[in-house]
Amino acid sequence: MGKKIHCLTYLLLIIPPFLLTSYFFAAFPNRPESIQVSPSLASLPKQAKSWSVYPEDFYGVGGYARFPYGKVKYWMLGPEDGKKIVLIHGLSIPALIWKDVAPGLAARGYRVLLYDLYGRGYSDAPQTTYDTTLYVTQLALLMQHIKWEKAHVFGVSMGGALTAAFTANFPELVEDRVVVVASAGLIKTSDLSRTTKVMSSPLVQTLTSSWLARKFIQRLTDSANETSDKPVDPIQEIVRLQSAHLSGYNAAISSSLRDGPVRGEEDSFKSDVWKGRRLLIIHGTKDNTVPYKYAAQIQSLVNASGCDAQLVTIEGAGHDLTVSHPDEIVQNMTKFLSDS
Ligand SMILES: *[C@@H]1O[C@H](CO)[C@@H](O)[C@H](O)[C@H]1NC(C)=O
Ligand SMILES: *[C@@H]1O[C@H](CO)[C@@H](O)[C@H](O)[C@H]1NC(C)=O
Ligand SMILES: *[C@@H]1O[C@H](CO)[C@@H](O)[C@H](O)[C@H]1NC(C)=O
Repeated sequence: MGKKIHCLTYLLLIIPPFLLTSYFFAAFPNRPESIQVSPSLASLPKQAKSWSVYPEDFYGVGGYARFPYGKVKYWMLGPEDGKKIVLIHGLSIPALIWKDVAPGLAARGYRVLLYDLYGRGYSDAPQTTYDTTLYVTQLALLMQHIKWEKAHVFGVSMGGALTAAFTANFPELVEDRVVVVASAGLIKTSDLSRTTKVMSSPLVQTLTSSWLARKFIQRLTDSANETSDKPVDPIQEIVRLQSAHLSGYNAAISSSLRDGPVRGEEDSFKSDVWKGRRLLIIHGTKDNTVPYKYAAQIQSLVNASGCDAQLVTIEGAGHDLTVSHPDEIVQNMTKFLSDS
């Protein structure tokens, strides 16, 4: 009898830890595999057209930073002792979108940091969710890599939304004056075009990421090239080339549309980190991608947090205003930074 009780006590002691251990082995059968990373434009053969449209040394030699989610390409322009500015590009076009604005700022004495977001241009494409956290962490790591403690941050389109999110998440890394150009972040789903909605669906994301889909896009791209005598627009061309030749690009775009800072960034613009800062909002009246009305919405959100927000309207400019109106943009940016 005594022995039986002893045995039972023993069992009761041993069973719960045993069950727990089996549960954990069942729940976590293996250590998860490390994240897969798809290569960037740097992996394409040197005769590929991307090397003439957007060569790796487009802004000078630059460098690569190695982070856990893959390599990140960056360049620095302008005098080393100039005021520091980070330029963030948008959804589909890499740092090439700043081709006229960046040299303009550098020529006026600013030190400019340009980089490609994950999944675009010369930065690797981790197979992960392209959400705000991924993007803001990428820039914080990059600033740490180049030993910048603080900088002015300027962003265009999705990069504008990212600028707001970066300021809200890492206010100590951001100077008091910030610029957003044709900024996304508040787009309502009803304003997204049908193409955009289709692109962001998980099914299309899977399909366009496949080898077959890329072969198809490559053929379209190549035949378009053969039949036209017009000089190619480098901006449109780089979008087609990435889509056709980079296995991670289409997934990065779709995930960014669905999970990224394109919409739902109200809280970043409302954050109290804006108190005491100044924001310059530049927007074109003919913007069909991020309608002009969003500029005023951004202005009133940050104003409510005690930020002095100024809106510069560029009459007749579309969403590509950094390419169509670079001089006005550079002049407005430098005036904003030097105003007392
Ligand atoms: C595309 O155009 C370029 C420049 O005109 C030419 O060198 C290249 O061979 C063309 N590629 C194809 C696939 O037609
Ligand atoms: C935001 O504040 C600025 C300056 O304080 C003012 O000129 C502007 O009208 C305000 N805008 C909104 C939308 O409240
Ligand atoms: C800023 O842009 C506006 C609109 O295009 C233009 O009228 C103005 O002259 C620019 N300001 C400066 C300082 O260049």
